[in-house]
Amino acid sequence: MTDQAALASKVEPGVSQLRCIGCAAVGEEGAKSVRCAQCGDLLEVAFPGWKTDAGARAAGLDAAGLKKLWLERRTSWNALDESGVWRFREILPALNDWNRVITLREGNTPVYELPSCGRAAGVEQLFAKHQGMNPTGSFKDTGMTAAASFARQGGFRWVACASTGNTSASMAAYAARAGMRSLVLIPQGQITWGKLSQALDYGAVTCQLKTDFDGCMRVLDEVVQRMPVYLLNSVNPYRLEGQKTAAVELLERFDWEPPDHIIVPGGNLGNSSAIGKALLEMKELGLITRLPKLSVIQAEGANALVRTMRETGGKELVSVHAETMATAIKIGSPASWKKAVRVIEATGGAVEQVSEVEMALAKAEIGADGIGCEPASAVTLAGLKKLVKQGFVKKNESVVLILTGNLLKDPDFTLKFHRGDLFAGTEHEEEAAEVLTPRQRAPMVLDASANAVVKVLEYAEQTDPRK
Ligand code: F0G
Repeated sequence: MTDQAALASKVEPGVSQLRCIGCAAVGEEGAKSVRCAQCGDLLEVAFPGWKTDAGARAAGLDAAGLKKLWLERRTSWNALDESGVWRFREILPALNDWNRVITLREGNTPVYELPSCGRAAGVEQLFAKHQGMNPTGSFKDTGMTAAASFARQGGFRWVACASTGNTSASMAAYAARAGMRSLVLIPQGQITWGKLSQALDYGAVTCQLKTDFDGCMRVLDEVVQRMPVYLLNSVNPYRLEGQKTAAVELLERFDWEPPDHIIVPGGNLGNSSAIGKALLEMKELGLITRLPKLSVIQAEGANALVRTMRETGGKELVSVHAETMATAIKIGSPASWKKAVRVIEATGGAVEQVSEVEMALAKAEIGADGIGCEPASAVTLAGLKKLVKQGFVKKNESVVLILTGNLLKDPDFTLKFHRGDLFAGTEHEEEAAEVLTPRQRAPMVLDASANAVVKVLEYAEQTDPRK
């Protein structure tokens, strides 16, 4: 037995099952389909042994013991312990053979204080958990290590996803590590070069379809019916299990004293569903005694969840034709909307939407705090400003923004922003000029002389807004 398997065998993971979120039918664990065979709704991983505190203890899930065990693993060199996902394996579905886990040492991402962003939003305690610090630069890696490992356990040769870029980058990397082939469907001309280049580098068969993300998803649904290919979009329940750990890690970092609010960007709504599931499960297991409110922010042009909540009270999905520069969340028909509605309601969170200019300003503010993120992540700060104005978030409450992607995923957006041409020729041009100009730092082309550089330096010092 290898070290990895020996260590894993010392723990008794909770027994899990796949259950339909619609009709509650229990499916076959590890089955190929990610939808309910009875009614077609999404599946989720359930842990029936956790129903009560006594049940949790019987499954070896004593809260104090788990907290101690998870923290101790941070000093271990075992690959499972080094992963910020598998470190928490007692609350994840168990693999038959722990040696089959595919890990790039994902998770264990930093939590930063954001003092000036906090001032801009009007809250005293603002933090960012930066999931863009994962191996392929986005939060997707935490889910992918789980789902790709189950794909390998299931004996699949091919895995596939439709993507706005980050899922495909992550899936291609994990598939390559596992010796599996990967198929990527992306909307032509609508994903960033950074993300596209990752999928190519990691050896994915990459198809740019002449449609949007929602169209890619429809095509892929048919492909997986016809070919022996395992679907790794976030409708895959194992993805969400891995993504839960971002919330667990966050609570551990706060010594299990929950913040008042957690704010996430919403696209296909897998991430908000996963984080919400983790919060509810942690409460159920007695790891925390109070739930943070989980709020989801969307771009105005891709606001299916916002409309779903406002127009139908979360009962029927209102699909939209998505348009936003935040290509990561340019999604009109979010697959996990029901799961997201459930956790937003259970935690008492809110949904909000922000304009393109509000998002661009927030991204520059996060960058100016020395953190940086991709545009989709910045909707969190822009949304927080609105939630504070509405009184939903109070000045003295603690808030954590989940930043989902690395700044370097979309350098084009940042360059255009600072050159001042991000909104050129659009209806937002005037508003952008007024709001964004003070934040712009265009690169300068100079003669190769010290004099020229010194002049620039002197001018920058005289006009420093922070003086
Ligand atoms: N932020 C980033 C950077 C993303 O890439 C995504 C989704 C989201 C937020 C939204 O997360 O879909 O779980 O609500 N990107 C997917 C992709 C859709 O294909 O990479 P969600």
